[in-house]
Amino acid sequence: MRKIAVALTKGGVGKTTTAVNLAARLANVGQRVLLIDVDTQGQAGKMLGCQPTNGLAELVANNATPDQAIVPARDNLWLLGGGKSLAGLKMLIARKEFGAERTLAEALAPLDDHYDFVILDSAPGWDALTVNVLFYAREVLSPVSLEVMTLQGLSDFAQSLASIQRYHPELRHSYIVPTFFDRRVKKSEEIFAQLQTYYPSQVCSPVRYSVRLSEAPGYGQTIFEYAPASPGADDYAALTERIMHDDGTQRNA
Ligand SMILES: Nc1ncnc2c1ncn2[C@@H]1O[C@H](COP(=O)(O)OP(=O)(O)O)[C@@H](O)[C@H]1O
Ligand SMILES: [Mg+2]
Repeated sequence: MRKIAVALTKGGVGKTTTAVNLAARLANVGQRVLLIDVDTQGQAGKMLGCQPTNGLAELVANNATPDQAIVPARDNLWLLGGGKSLAGLKMLIARKEFGAERTLAEALAPLDDHYDFVILDSAPGWDALTVNVLFYAREVLSPVSLEVMTLQGLSDFAQSLASIQRYHPELRHSYIVPTFFDRRVKKSEEIFAQLQTYYPSQVCSPVRYSVRLSEAPGYGQTIFEYAPASPGADDYAALTERIMHDDGTQRNA
């Protein structure tokens, strides 16, 4: 079972869009996928048109069983929802005397091998929940917006990851996904070229700027449902193919 965290400290870079559409595509091509929303905004569920009563917070606090907390979202795709209740989970983690960073990993261990892929959508910033996500995941995928210069943000994030890798050496920063790619914008090409220079083995083909990607969530649909012939659908299909082609043990650059 592969566990992929979609994470970067910066917000608005396409994390949730990537987590949802990657999960949906994996499910479309026959993989059993669990999408876990680890953001108090609860956007991942909304993008799929699901707002479950129970979710990750209830599961970890033992207020719901996995059967109650994990809801079917599409064929082959299940959702463990996030949202406001995660604030309570943060407090539960904060109250722990030791082992706090493995709270999520311990609570989710019974799900091991029930799925082919677990995709985690994380919140921006660097808090106890994000650290917990990174102690659970084996692979990290970072979307990097080519609209705003975030190379510094990316290298800061990679340094923070390194501090976790000391205690969780199986964790790999496997994928960097350039998002909001726009060939007409010079800066977009420039940042993409820089990413290829600094992170040659991790950089994936970019996800283009596409207004369809920003419209789909308003209908509670994935890009493959809302606009299957759009550039966004093509780009997320290509990303999914690349990820499926790996075995989950690819190394950092
Ligand atoms: N490739 C893209 N082209 C156009 N709009 C996008 C693209 N990717 C994401 N968006 C939009 O940008 C906003 C931020 O994306 P989101 O996935 O929520 O980022 P994050 O989770 O990192 O905060 C959302 O409104 C989303 O619909
Ligand atoms: Mg998000």
